Amino acid sequence: MRKLIMLALAGIVSSPVIHAEVGIPAKGGWPEYLFIESVTRAEAHDTATKIAQAIFAGRMVIFSQMGKLTDPNIGDKGYTGAVFEKQWRASVEHLQIDASPSQQRIMEKVFWAGKQAMDNNQDRLNVKGVAWKHFLPAKWEREMGSLLNARTGILTKQPARNYRNPVNIPDSAERETLTRFVQPGFDGAAHGTFAQMGKQEVYRYMEPIRLIPPCMGCHGKPQGELDMLGFEKDGLEINDVIGLMSVTIAVRD
Ligand code: HEC
Repeated sequence: MRKLIMLALAGIVSSPVIHAEVGIPAKGGWPEYLFIESVTRAEAHDTATKIAQAIFAGRMVIFSQMGKLTDPNIGDKGYTGAVFEKQWRASVEHLQIDASPSQQRIMEKVFWAGKQAMDNNQDRLNVKGVAWKHFLPAKWEREMGSLLNARTGILTKQPARNYRNPVNIPDSAERETLTRFVQPGFDGAAHGTFAQMGKQEVYRYMEPIRLIPPCMGCHGKPQGELDMLGFEKDGLEINDVIGLMSVTIAVRD
């Protein structure tokens, strides 16, 4: 026995602890304990809808620039955060008209995050001689979502049927909604529900993201064929639901 203790102390015999599986989610709680921004119950749905629609509009603005952004012959594209923000705000003026003061404050932070994400990509975007520089609307959304979350606690995410980025792995609520959204008879209506995240009550809003023609080169047919980035194409069709715009926001009474 004494010999065993000596060996254990010397690190020769490992302690009799049963090693659990590694790399699995911790149980309980939620990593974000202080939600800086929150909404009233009455404004929850409308606010989440505005955030989702603003982000979606930002994606479309970037899409319209992809020809220029992937042109290998241009170095400095001049597509700064400020240039993008101006176009983006113009495309979502309708969302601002009836916004309450707290919604306006949140929207300003959404615009800030989107502009910042675009500024963060300038070195990448301005590389000359390379067409594909790993910048596209979904990446902008992921990065602006991370900035928005850091500043406000609001969570935005785009879980998908076949996610390419692991950040977009659907959680159980998202998986359930997405499963419903991809059924042939789905009526197209967004899904919103009050839920609990750790100690915080939240509103969870999910709306379908559908495919349009410019998406098909990567997410369309034939299934399994490699797209220009080396991912296998999803095999989906125009207008199919590919994923969700998921927004989670803290609720206060
Ligand atoms: C050039 C290929 C390409 C095109 C075109 C494209 N995507 Fe993607 N898509 C990607 C890549 C790569 C990612 C992962 C981006 C990241 O987060 O780094 C992605 C991510 C996504 C995601 C998030 C889930 C995931 O896979 O991580 C959604 C939703 C999505 N795309 C929808 C669309 C829609 C809608 C269109 C058309 C409007 C479109 N994509 C066009 C390549 C493409």
